[in-house]
Formats: sequence, C-alpha cells, structure tokens
Amino acid sequence: MAETIVLAYSGGLDTSVATKWLQEEYGYEVVCVTIDLGNLPDVDAARERGFAAGAKAIEVIDAREDFLRFFAFPALAANAVYEGQYPLATALGRPLMAKLLVDHARAVGATSIAHGCTGKGNDQVRFDVAIHALAPDIKVVGTARENLMTREQAIDYAHKFEIPIVETVESPYSTDENLWGRSVECGNLEDPWLEPPADVFEWTRSLDQTPDQPAEVEISFEHGVPVVLDGEAVDPVTLVDRLSLLSGEHGIGRIDMVENRLVGIKSREIYEAPAAITLLEAHRALEAMTLSKHQLRMKDRIGQEYADLIYNGLWFTAHHQDLAAYVQSTQRYVTGDVRMRLWRGTATAMGRRADRSLYSHALATYGEGDEFDQAAAQGFIKLWGLPVQVQAGVQLLAEPGGLERLAAPEGE
Ligand code: ARG
Repeated sequence: MAETIVLAYSGGLDTSVATKWLQEEYGYEVVCVTIDLGNLPDVDAARERGFAAGAKAIEVIDAREDFLRFFAFPALAANAVYEGQYPLATALGRPLMAKLLVDHARAVGATSIAHGCTGKGNDQVRFDVAIHALAPDIKVVGTARENLMTREQAIDYAHKFEIPIVETVESPYSTDENLWGRSVECGNLEDPWLEPPADVFEWTRSLDQTPDQPAEVEISFEHGVPVVLDGEAVDPVTLVDRLSLLSGEHGIGRIDMVENRLVGIKSREIYEAPAAITLLEAHRALEAMTLSKHQLRMKDRIGQEYADLIYNGLWFTAHHQDLAAYVQSTQRYVTGDVRMRLWRGTATAMGRRADRSLYSHALATYGEGDEFDQAAAQGFIKLWGLPVQVQAGVQLLAEPGGLERLAAPEGE
C-alpha cells in the first residue's frame, strides 16, 4: 500500500504541482492541508486544483485565533522584533503550521510531511526543526528544495497533468501573509539600491495618500494582551483585522530592511505589519507605566533573544519555555489603556493609564502637591558620585594633562 504524505498546501501553482509530483516521484498518496492564518486566497479554486492534481483529500483548517492567542500575542508581550524591525509574522506562523501538519499526519496515518519552501530560506528550517521536534519519526520532504523547476517548467508540468492553473500576470515577488503581517521578497527588491516599487505594498498606503486627519484609537490590554478597542471587547481576530485596516490606511507598518537569514545570506525584505506595529507601540507605552526600570531593561534583552529564537525556528524548545515564563511573569500588571494616534505613517501613544501604574504624579510634578524629598537628593548624589570622585582624584586627574583628557576624552 502506498504511504501517505501530508502536504502544506496553499493552492498556488507550486503546491498544486507538488501534489502531483509527490505521487509521480515518490508514489505517495497526498493529503493536502491548507492552514488559514488570516490570508486565504480562493479556497474553492484551490480545492479544485488540488483534486485535479490527484489529492486524496483536502483539508482547510482555520487557525487564525490560535495563531494570535498562542503565537502573535505572546510575541507582542515580549516586544519581539527581529533585528529591530521585523515583527516576525511569517516566522510566527511556521511552528503552528508544523503542529497542525503533525496532528493531521497522525490523524490520517501519514508517514511524511511535505512543504514547498525553497532551500535558501528560513522557513524550511523552521518547518523541518519544528516537525522533527514534535514527531521525530516523520519524514520531511521539501518539494521546492528537491525539485528545482523553473516557473515555466512548473506551468508545463501542470498542463501535462491537466491541473487547472490560473495564469495571471506573474507577480515578480514571493509573498507570505497572515494576520500579523505580510512578507515580500524577490523581483527587483533584490537590488537594495532600488526603492521598493509601489506595487509591492497591498496593506499600507504610501504617505502621499494617507488621510489629512489623524485617527485615534484606544487599545486596552489585560496582562499584556490586547482585548478591547475603543471600549468594545473584541475577539483577537476582529481586533487585529480592524487595527490592520485602520493603521494601513494611515501608512503605518511599512518596513524595508536588509536582514540576516539563518542560512547565512543577507536578504532585502519588505514587510507590511500595520496592526503589529501599532500594537507594539501601544504595548511598550503601557509597559513604560507599569514595569520598573530594571524590568524594562531586562525585558528588552529577553525580547531580543525571544525574537532570535522565533526567527531561528526554535519555538519547540525548553529555552522558549523559559523565556516565555519570564515574559509572562512580567505582564501581570500590564493592564490598562493606551490612546493611539495614527497619522502619516506613525502610531504614537497620546495617552496612557493603568490601575497599577508606577507613574506617580505626586513624585513627578513640579507643581502643587510635590511629595518628592528634594533634600534627600543631596545625600543620594553624594554617594552616587563618590566612586566617580575617588577615581578622578586618584587616577584621572593625577597625571599631567589629566584634566584636559578628562574634559575632552575623544581628543588625541
Ligand atoms: N524573511 C522572512 C522570514 O524569514 C520572510 C520570509 C517570507 N517568505 C516568503 N515566501 N516570502 O521570516
């Protein structure tokens, strides 16, 4: 009896061809699984193509809410942003897809799982590592990695096997979309000197087309999780969808970066992440009110580690569990409201409040009701400056020219 393989199926040309190719080349029975993380194109057409390509079954799984609850929102709590810019939409989707593919493989008794990632990117690493962590016995086939067809060859292959493909004008880009963001690469984006052409962007307006008037939106968080928009409790998918539209309209969330891939390549990537950028900004504004200085500093470092871990495909690890436990613990008082202004490509916190805020007006004010003990400042400064004064006296000023060097440290 033929072995069964579960294929991560998007329904496009490449995975339709892969459906047939896995049967022809390896003799597999192919079960297609389409995972909806908030980006599905035409499901009916995809289904038709899949069956025409000989799929034994085609399953569509709506994983949008799980994706936000268990992947994107924890990353938000950590302020996880790769290399200072990329909110990790694609990277966050992969471990959930891997989990669902493994579950489905078990359900249908499959021995193998296939994905269509190329052999040069991060996504193959994320899929392979995640699948093998969850199911070491399952074999992984990277169809694009093993079957290096050009686009023309893929189209010929589809024609040969009568797979109904739509030959729309070929997009020069490779894109990946989910609720947390949109990733675009290839085409003339590969020239880092060229400005990204207008047709790269689909979710965000360019700055010369954003509204003249700003929009305001109030986002409420509970333990670091966004739960309310403008006073209305909404489910995660609705919340992110709404924020994405509104922020995109105001040109927020366009990212153009040269990033370091795990496989050693630098690549030029364009991202659109309007909701993620607005939420990250709002979340940071609330943390500034509710976390101590030490917590904020440590959390920044943990957030970077967390972002690297997500990017590098290490979701299913003890290291992740440990970092997540720390992040989770920091969020216990991150509850409150942030009023955001969305305008001309920027999301700015205009107001913030929290019941357990560490911000004390009585301590901060220069006006009426000041409770800060200014006399105590003198004693504090005396001790704070003590080692500075000792070192200056004993070492830095003691040499000839010491005073000059101390006053102009960058001079010769
Ligand atoms: N460079 C990004 C990452 O590694 C995005 C990859 C996007 N994939 C794609 N097919 N365009 O997460």
